[in-house]
Amino acid sequence: MAWVQVECDREIHLNGSQGDLLLRDARGDFSRWAGQAACVYLDPPFMTGDAFYMQMRVGENGWMTGKNTLTLPAYQDRFSGKAEFLGLLRQALENAKMLLNDTGSLFLHLDSRMAAHARLLCDEIFGESNFVNEIIWAYQSGGRTMKRFSRKHDVILFYRKSRSQYFNIRAVPISRGENRQNHMRRSIDEQGRPYRSIKSGGKVYIYYDDDPVYPGDVWTDVSHLQQKDPQRTGYDTQKPLALLKRIILSTTQKGDLVADLFGGSGTTAVAASEEGRRFLSSDKGPLSIAVSRKRLLNTAMTVEAPTGSPGAFLQAEFEPGIAFYDARLLDYRTPEGSPVTGLDAVDQWSVGFYRNKTFHVQASAARTKHTPALQTMLQMPQLQGVASVMISDVLGNRSVWVQEDQL
Ligand SMILES: C[S@@+](CC[C@H](N)C(=O)[O-])C[C@H]1O[C@@H](n2cnc3c(N)ncnc32)[C@H](O)[C@@H]1O
Repeated sequence: MAWVQVECDREIHLNGSQGDLLLRDARGDFSRWAGQAACVYLDPPFMTGDAFYMQMRVGENGWMTGKNTLTLPAYQDRFSGKAEFLGLLRQALENAKMLLNDTGSLFLHLDSRMAAHARLLCDEIFGESNFVNEIIWAYQSGGRTMKRFSRKHDVILFYRKSRSQYFNIRAVPISRGENRQNHMRRSIDEQGRPYRSIKSGGKVYIYYDDDPVYPGDVWTDVSHLQQKDPQRTGYDTQKPLALLKRIILSTTQKGDLVADLFGGSGTTAVAASEEGRRFLSSDKGPLSIAVSRKRLLNTAMTVEAPTGSPGAFLQAEFEPGIAFYDARLLDYRTPEGSPVTGLDAVDQWSVGFYRNKTFHVQASAARTKHTPALQTMLQMPQLQGVASVMISDVLGNRSVWVQEDQL
């Protein structure tokens, strides 16, 4: 029996309660979530003038060795000028403000190129009195120059929606850096607790080694993702989970909604979901959806992004057992002329039910470093609905398929 592609603009994983992943421009309509977000993090293009890519590993060999990869265009950070860039930023910030509840916080991540312009824009939209911090995220990675001091920091502007903002620094303790206390005297108290002390202005200040310390507005303890970091998805400009977790943990509580309108590889959504928060992650690039979907494959979420890969071909088999189907992926071909085809071209696949242009995911498998060989058999319960297959391929195309006689 032939498999044919069907129109699908939504997929629901489990009950979809933990978050939403959307293919949408940051200037689009997000009014469905108005006033619901406790935190909005925006990591837009920085106006670098560059193009950014995704290194997609291909097949079992690609996942085992890291050598067989495709370079796919992810997004263009190119604007006709400052006016166009600031126009995008203004609309994204207005959407962010609309999304935030009264206790909510905004984080806008940029670098030295546009941070000053953005600060004025945020003052205008959020109000100068709602400025909280200019966070400097300093790192060592990347090249160095002899022509000036090397630029080794990003700027994260932190604003609150109102005076009733929620902020809990106790949720983000950091380790006490050794060199911060080198100039202090080391001692041990009567209970055996080590501490350091310093005399200043006639007063003695005591700092116990096991007392928590909290970050200031210069963050030097979060490193950029190294080349071999297991978090790395291959999506350029991916941020570390530790950065997002500090932002999320200090400004939200469990069950709160965290939004990101420039979601990229889905870091904010992953951080939110790992910390028991809900997420809204949106991006205008289809590749971003494919990468984020994979990072969140077993999360209860809804994905709103149209599917379709014209010219592709699928062969699969559903064998009914007792209350379950055994689904087998037999073959997949990308459209003619694609650089990869066959099962090597499958990065992720899911089985589920198709109803009203919605794919209800029941089971999924994906290639990862731990599972480079694709699991080609999945089991799913025989519920009501049309048994169907979703493929997300190495070109970033997602497609939903049903057997022709089920249409
Ligand atoms: C710096 S990256 C975000 C990286 C992300 N924080 C991560 O950790 O992976 C910027 C993202 O903005 C997206 N983007 C660019 N212009 C956009 C727009 N107008 N609306 C929505 N997304 C946009 C790009 O596709 C890209 O994924």
